[in-house]
Amino acid sequence: MSWNQKHLLDIESLSAEEITAVLDTAREFKTVGERAIKKVPALQGKTIVNFFVEPSTRTRVSFELSAKRLSADIINFAADASSFQKGESLKDTARNLEALNADVIIIRHKAPGAPHFLARFLDAHVINAGDGAHEHPTQALLDTFTIREKKSRVKGLNVTILGDILYSRVARSNIWALRKLGANVTLCGPSTLVPRVFEEMGCRVTYNLDEALAEADVINLLRIQHERQRKTMFPSIGEYTRHFGLTQARLALTKPDAIIMHPGPINRGVEIESDLADGNRAVILEQVTNGIAVRMAALYLVNGGLGDSL
Ligand code: CP
Repeated sequence: MSWNQKHLLDIESLSAEEITAVLDTAREFKTVGERAIKKVPALQGKTIVNFFVEPSTRTRVSFELSAKRLSADIINFAADASSFQKGESLKDTARNLEALNADVIIIRHKAPGAPHFLARFLDAHVINAGDGAHEHPTQALLDTFTIREKKSRVKGLNVTILGDILYSRVARSNIWALRKLGANVTLCGPSTLVPRVFEEMGCRVTYNLDEALAEADVINLLRIQHERQRKTMFPSIGEYTRHFGLTQARLALTKPDAIIMHPGPINRGVEIESDLADGNRAVILEQVTNGIAVRMAALYLVNGGLGDSL
């Protein structure tokens, strides 16, 4: 077992061994979710704060369930009903949460680097639940976990990430994780949203969707991140769907065992035909389920767990 981090701030700073440690630990924790009593005492007595300053469905609920399955106490901090609204700073808010004896602060914030900022002055462990367009490490870990579970390996697989790469924290974290574990990553989408600078991260960039899909073992779809785009990046949603939407006809040209992933939320009829999102090639809801085990592993490891009391 190889884990040497106090925090989980990003995938960029993790080694392949540390990523594998999370995936292996998550595999053990997944069995907890399949038991009649879905709880272990691993983090009994610990206090965890879900500090979400941006909306979330999957990540927030998943962290809450993960903490509860580890027997920790968790509270949800709703920024829009807090003294944040009275002008209290991020630093003061976090220090007050720590003063309430938080052992772990899980933060989602629109500012890239917000978790790294907190980690500079907090004694508590900090976990990044998404910082702007920078990283979403636990999403990449659960995506990688799902790929490994479905394909029995990650190394050597062809993974195509399709959509708004430029504004996607999920894309960045996935690229780091997949490249570190030896997968081949192809990026595809409108040229305004898939700049060639991503080639420097070891990815293939193409604007030809058929080419991007032909050899893919995994197709990871991303929604258009309208909330982060500062200008119009393509003519219209209809135009985007016509050129880059995943349809039944396009799926028919892929490997028959290629799986479809999506971090959610899905925009049905935009990046994916609605029936495909519910079809037998999609593993989208399995990703959500796996998120619990992966986040249990993340909470456990940052708290110093080493696999002997699962
Ligand atoms: N995938 C993801 O981060 O979803 P939420 O925004 O609902 O947490």
